[in-house]
Amino acid sequence: MNKAKISPSMMCADIGALSETLRIFEKNHIEYLHIDIMDGSFVPNITMGTDYCRQLRRLTDIPLDIHLMVENPQEKLGWFDIGPGDIVSVHYEAACHLQRTLACLKEQGVTVFAALNPATSVELLRYVLDDLDGVLLMTVNPGFAGQKAIPATIEKIRDTRLMLEKTGHQDMWIEVDGNVSLENAVKMRRAGADIFVGGTAGLFRDGQVTDQSVRELREAIQRGE
Ligand code: DX5
Ligand code: ZN
Repeated sequence: MNKAKISPSMMCADIGALSETLRIFEKNHIEYLHIDIMDGSFVPNITMGTDYCRQLRRLTDIPLDIHLMVENPQEKLGWFDIGPGDIVSVHYEAACHLQRTLACLKEQGVTVFAALNPATSVELLRYVLDDLDGVLLMTVNPGFAGQKAIPATIEKIRDTRLMLEKTGHQDMWIEVDGNVSLENAVKMRRAGADIFVGGTAGLFRDGQVTDQSVRELREAIQRGE
């Protein structure tokens, strides 16, 4: 079991308190900042973009965990100043040539994840496992914060961990994204997840994050170990 990491969903953060939020994350050794990039086509929402990522780089050294919810991600990889230390997730459902896209990301030295919508079977990644460092499992339908986790996705986390173990990829990361509440974090960790996207349900309380909310999420994850 990999050491658990927290990746706060920055679309849930109060933009007016960004500096304070980043200081709290640094103080609490938060491992990544989850950046939801949405194009209004692959998902019915438009969120932060390339300039937001560049500005974040000036404000903190915390690596980015960029979740590309965009059509044809292979055409857009160069739009982001990604590099070693960052995670980049591309959706299986959006990349017509997934293996080539993953290989391009690998060449840029990033940590390469494939993202799956709730209904998409992890078996579809079987022939690109060697190209991956991790899998991002959506536990809600992508596009909006504040949704409820889809119950079947807990079983999907378990099935994914089993498949990774059976194929010799037991050290691969499983990131979970959507309604990572304190209650769900326990179940998700127990099922085999190791990177947790903190959003409105577990980490942010009305857009604000505190030392306590970080501590409570870490403790909930530990209860699942
Ligand atoms: C949804 C995003 C999630 C979301 C998490 O498409 O990928 O990261 O912001 O927010 P909560 O935790 O509220 O579901
Ligand atoms: Zn996300």
